[in-house]
Amino acid sequence: MTQQVQGVVAPGRDEPVRVETIVIPDPGPGEAVVKVQACGVCHTDLHYKQGGINDDFPFLLGHEAAGVVESVGEGVTDVAPGDFVILNWRAVCGQCRACLRGRPWYCFDTHNARQKMTLTDGTELSPALGIGAFAEKTLVAAGQCTKVDPAVAPSVAGLLGCGVMAGIGAAINTGQVGRGDSVAVIGCGGVGDAAVVGARLAGAARIIAVDIDDRKLAKAREMGATHTVNSRTDDPVEAIRELTGGFGADVVIEAVGRPETYRQAFYARDLAGTVVLVGVPTPEMKLELPLLDVFGRGGALKSSWYGDCLPSRDFPMLIDLHQQGRIDLAAFVTETIGLGDVEHAFARMHEGDVLRSVVVF
Ligand SMILES: NC(=O)c1ccc[n+]([C@@H]2O[C@H](COP(=O)([O-])OP(=O)(O)OC[C@H]3O[C@@H](n4cnc5c(N)ncnc54)[C@H](O)[C@@H]3O)[C@@H](O)[C@H]2O)c1
Ligand SMILES: [Zn+2]
Ligand SMILES: [Zn+2]
Repeated sequence: MTQQVQGVVAPGRDEPVRVETIVIPDPGPGEAVVKVQACGVCHTDLHYKQGGINDDFPFLLGHEAAGVVESVGEGVTDVAPGDFVILNWRAVCGQCRACLRGRPWYCFDTHNARQKMTLTDGTELSPALGIGAFAEKTLVAAGQCTKVDPAVAPSVAGLLGCGVMAGIGAAINTGQVGRGDSVAVIGCGGVGDAAVVGARLAGAARIIAVDIDDRKLAKAREMGATHTVNSRTDDPVEAIRELTGGFGADVVIEAVGRPETYRQAFYARDLAGTVVLVGVPTPEMKLELPLLDVFGRGGALKSSWYGDCLPSRDFPMLIDLHQQGRIDLAAFVTETIGLGDVEHAFARMHEGDVLRSVVVF
């Protein structure tokens, strides 16, 4: 059996997205169909639409979502119909080299649904990050569903499904920010601001937000930044060094995904400091650095896939902290929109008007 729902499809490179009828198969073994209640618009969706991830058009966009499990396939025991879940895009396999070594956040064989969702003419869709949640319902691997407290609004909970988790995790998991550390965050969109929130949660003493847009810097300050630098008008490397006694920050988090901002991050950290790349570059981007500087400055150059999170560990924990008022996830939601407004939300993201537009159903 199948069912038909409405969803947002990116038909081809740089073409506007369209609301289309999507055919969803009933869940097979290990799969679940989720009734989506909210899905945030992440910059990675825009990367998909622009062809910056790969060429597997048409994409079913959306991947930052929360909803209620509608039905599950054979052998699914972790979630059941009626459960309120956040969707994750790294359902760990439990069997690969990384999982067996006890480092499941690096899992090299994460799971997605095996069956395909299609258009009504049978064209197979590529769901963004194996989710595809700008749709009334979506088919995922059951391991992509993490059950959390239903007391939290779906528009807020869903943000943990991607950008906010990636940013908080970039600070607390990948960057291992500690009490008293100095932290700089380059690029203060949803992901960068979440890194600010993560750094604050971890007890960073100084949190320097860098962006090219003063509106973003004002927001970053509300989120916990202690200092801001507009890198259009000021050299961010010099400014960060000045704000850290001439040394550079202990941890610099790059949340843009460009060679020039990575270079800034590389030189804005203290000797033996850590750079965390959480921004996602596109395939043509190249980085050139003097190898002697890579050696001589020491420390760690790390990438953060999904904030090195473990959804089963981190989603319920962050929902708890939100409910206790220790982090404010609702502050990330700039506006709630309808399924037909995704193209407009991309334009607003491009203009820097929003932290997160969230599609609600
Ligand atoms: N690693 C992961 O798991 C993961 C998860 C989600 C998103 N991402 C990536 O993180 C990045 C940010 O995503 P987002 O949703 O926050 O995007 P966004 O568009 O909301 O934010 C980007 C921010 O960077 C700023 N910016 C742009 N150019 C800049 C420059 N040269 N210097 C300083 N700031 C600059 C913009 O003004 C904006 O505030 C994207 O590359 C996205 O694909 C990564
Ligand atoms: Zn995302
Ligand atoms: Zn694995």
